[in-house]
Amino acid sequence: MFKKRMRPMSWKNLFRKKTISQILLDIELRENGSESHQLKKTLGVWDLTAFGVAAIVGAGIFSTIGNAAYSGGPAVIFLFIFTAVACAFSAFCYAEFASALPVAGSAYTYAYASFGEILAWIIGWDLLMEYAISNIAVAISWSQYFITILSSYGIVVPKYLTMDFLSAYRGYQKVSPLLLVQSDLGQIAATGVSSSVIHAFQAWRDAPRVLGVPLVCNLPALVVTMMVTGVAYFGIQESKLTSNVLVALKVAVILLVIFLGAYYIHPVNWVPFAPNGVGGVFKGVSAVFFAYIGFDAISTTAEECKNPQRDLPRGMIYSLVICTVLYVLMSLVLTGMVSYKKLDVGDPLAFVFGPQGANLPWVSGVVSISAVVALFTVLLVYQLGQPRIWMAMSRDGLLPPIFSAIHPRFKTPWFSTLITGLFVAVPSLFMNLTEVTDLTSTGTLFAFSLVCGGSLLMGSPPKSHQPKFRVPYINSKFFFPIFVLLVAASVLYFNGEGVQNFLGMGHESPDDFFTWEVIQRKIPLIIYFFEIGVLMYFCIRHSLSLIPVLGLVSCTYLMTELGMTNWIRFGAWLVVGFFVYFLYGARKSRLRALK
Ligand code: ALA
Repeated sequence: MFKKRMRPMSWKNLFRKKTISQILLDIELRENGSESHQLKKTLGVWDLTAFGVAAIVGAGIFSTIGNAAYSGGPAVIFLFIFTAVACAFSAFCYAEFASALPVAGSAYTYAYASFGEILAWIIGWDLLMEYAISNIAVAISWSQYFITILSSYGIVVPKYLTMDFLSAYRGYQKVSPLLLVQSDLGQIAATGVSSSVIHAFQAWRDAPRVLGVPLVCNLPALVVTMMVTGVAYFGIQESKLTSNVLVALKVAVILLVIFLGAYYIHPVNWVPFAPNGVGGVFKGVSAVFFAYIGFDAISTTAEECKNPQRDLPRGMIYSLVICTVLYVLMSLVLTGMVSYKKLDVGDPLAFVFGPQGANLPWVSGVVSISAVVALFTVLLVYQLGQPRIWMAMSRDGLLPPIFSAIHPRFKTPWFSTLITGLFVAVPSLFMNLTEVTDLTSTGTLFAFSLVCGGSLLMGSPPKSHQPKFRVPYINSKFFFPIFVLLVAASVLYFNGEGVQNFLGMGHESPDDFFTWEVIQRKIPLIIYFFEIGVLMYFCIRHSLSLIPVLGLVSCTYLMTELGMTNWIRFGAWLVVGFFVYFLYGARKSRLRALK
């Protein structure tokens, strides 16, 4: 019986594409089919823009911007602008796909049309990393702000219920040897050990033990994830209202910080503008890119839009533009109010209004509360997006049918929503913020690169379904070589030292040059130069469209800055995905059954 249901696998099938006509036919069938299989169509262009802003403005601007400004100084604004441009190229490609294929599933569905099944699977699996894993980061960050607010009202939560196991363990490892030479924690703090390390030590020391293992976990992160899952489960209408109100509040508070903060800028803080050079600025890539993740989440609601072909592209581009303006202004205000050297904190927006900055405690309080609100909206958008990707994969037979089951009353993909909640809530109890952020940025950049590549490969849609939005065509034949030359010249001019280091000219002996540490930093760049060479060939020979090409080169460049460790972790994640695919999806794919 079991044998009979298994279909033999053919390698050729892995690259079979779902045509645009097939995708559109599926939509038509669903729309003419039973009501219980349809989602409610309630979203307009401003709802979508609000969704975009809700997804984008979150932990990045409220937390990780501090770290990026600390390493790059005021010049971090250039990284914000560069990253926004990279995202804008990808947004054009996303918008074209979303306009041609107005279905839930985002980049996954686009990849199915342009690359074939196996790459669609890879991107679907990768998006799980973008949406679910980034939500783990946001939940952890939400928890940190929430604890700060509680403690300002005198409510003390035991430290072992507010952090991840790894941070607590590291804190214990660091502080316990110091206790052999110092008499108490106060003395250790006086030697310059940060309060977060001491808190981590206390969490480990005070935690109750189960079989000797300390029970350290991030309880608020779990609770907020459960709350958000509840909102997503009960319906898009309720979620839309919640989201729009919270987004307005969040933007109002960010504007307050920008306009009020502008009065407290001391231009002397902007000198020097790039204290740590280009290298320092690019250290913030993961944090800054994380701050932009989200505009693509809009496309996952395609089936709930009133006019997806017109509104999806507009919503994506409007939200990206709004956020870029806010981020650049915010970076200028933060680095103008206090020295960049002080910004290495988890709550920079509140910090600059604290005693070391403008000293306006009420503004600090408002900012902390709004951070909790802001992060809630980000969680909500991703908790809505992830189940819809699973739903699309399940409809194609790559996941079991229950993943696309729609709740008869609430009209939401109820099972996928609950599984997403579980998938985020449990790791958020135990995982570490920085590692989760890095992994999310790597996975998302990979997804963006594939979408840009997909835009280059996608065939023409049928005449009856021409997308209303197309990426403007600019011939790359001449522009791309000129662009590469200009970039190379600027790099030589502004970062000659970096180029010398790359070529090994700064090393005293060959032994220094060939260490694993040095080599592993270079491997991503070497692969990148190879990519540029290949693209150059195709641009000159096939006159590719310039915008997707630039999207591809800018996103992959940002990936090189994230380092080998993240690439290896990301690779391991993909290997797990392959196991799942070959054990289930490859044999059950609906596309194969139709042929
Ligand atoms: N862009 C989102 C944030 O900053 C992921 O939280």
